[in-house]
Amino acid sequence: MTREDVLTLLLAQPDRPLSGEAMSRQLGVSRAAVWKAIEALRQEGYVISSAPNRGYRLESAPDRLREGELSGRIAHCRILRRVACLDVIDSTNTECKRRAMAGDPEGLAVMAEEQTGGKGRRGRSFQSPKGCGLYLSLLLRPRLEPAAVTDFTAWVAVAVCDSIQAACGVRPRIKWTNDLVLNGKKLCGILTELGLESETNCLEYMVPGIGINVNHRPEDFSEDVRAIATSLAIELGHPVRRADLAAELIRALDRMYRSFPDNKQEYLDRYRADCLTPGNRVQLITPTSRQEATALAIDDDFRLVVELPDGARKALSAGEVSVRGMYGYV
Ligand code: BTN
Repeated sequence: MTREDVLTLLLAQPDRPLSGEAMSRQLGVSRAAVWKAIEALRQEGYVISSAPNRGYRLESAPDRLREGELSGRIAHCRILRRVACLDVIDSTNTECKRRAMAGDPEGLAVMAEEQTGGKGRRGRSFQSPKGCGLYLSLLLRPRLEPAAVTDFTAWVAVAVCDSIQAACGVRPRIKWTNDLVLNGKKLCGILTELGLESETNCLEYMVPGIGINVNHRPEDFSEDVRAIATSLAIELGHPVRRADLAAELIRALDRMYRSFPDNKQEYLDRYRADCLTPGNRVQLITPTSRQEATALAIDDDFRLVVELPDGARKALSAGEVSVRGMYGYV
């Protein structure tokens, strides 16, 4: 762990060198252990300068998601206080569920450099190439009825918009129900999974999973997805440090979860402001049908109110239907 702790200390003091002596005192380890950690970090691509009698300074860091990059920056979070950064995993959602079933308490964020079986909604897969995206899931245990968390993914979508705005200065829009869109293309998907106690039907855990396309180039997407997907790097024209975005994301999710479900009106208002679906002609898609409609509004339960060709109006929930634009993805 010393390596992560040394990185946290170096990141906390970017302007001045930090002496090996001070680090060993703060961490309660030997100077030799600090030196070994510095060498290991250098091997991994961290550029750490050292001046005799003054100490070490972090000059530049590779774009890696790791605990030492994040722990200092999420120290003020009240619930999301633990992070696990993995190299490769089947799915961060599945890993959170495994940990939930093993009894881990709530408040853990799991992220991975690569997912080999990233999951999307409706049994689809979510492409998760190595080092390109931010693939992150949370282990939460809200003391609520399952019916009280049906709109949670919509709250997550608003928090993800907040984090992207804070880290990158652009605010994506939300395509109902929970895809984030930038310049008409999909930037992020969200999948929330629940664990229920079979006897009582009580909520045991809730795992929202967020996949943001961060530094993908067009060729990092498969051909079929390329037409509708984009990444922050493609849209902004420069790469984005995933650790910076991850820190903003965890902070925004912590803030949001603390106000869930009490501040519903605030998140509903913000969801309505971010959502671009109302006002558009859309196709309503179920596993067995497609139907045209006009999207009118988001109702007080985050459902999409649509008008059908016969003039009838109805409110749709995310479980019932997904929506596509008439002439493209949005
Ligand atoms: C969708 O677009 O249908 C939802 C995609 C959700 C992807 C994220 S990536 C992190 C987490 N782990 C998964 O396997 N899926 C979610």
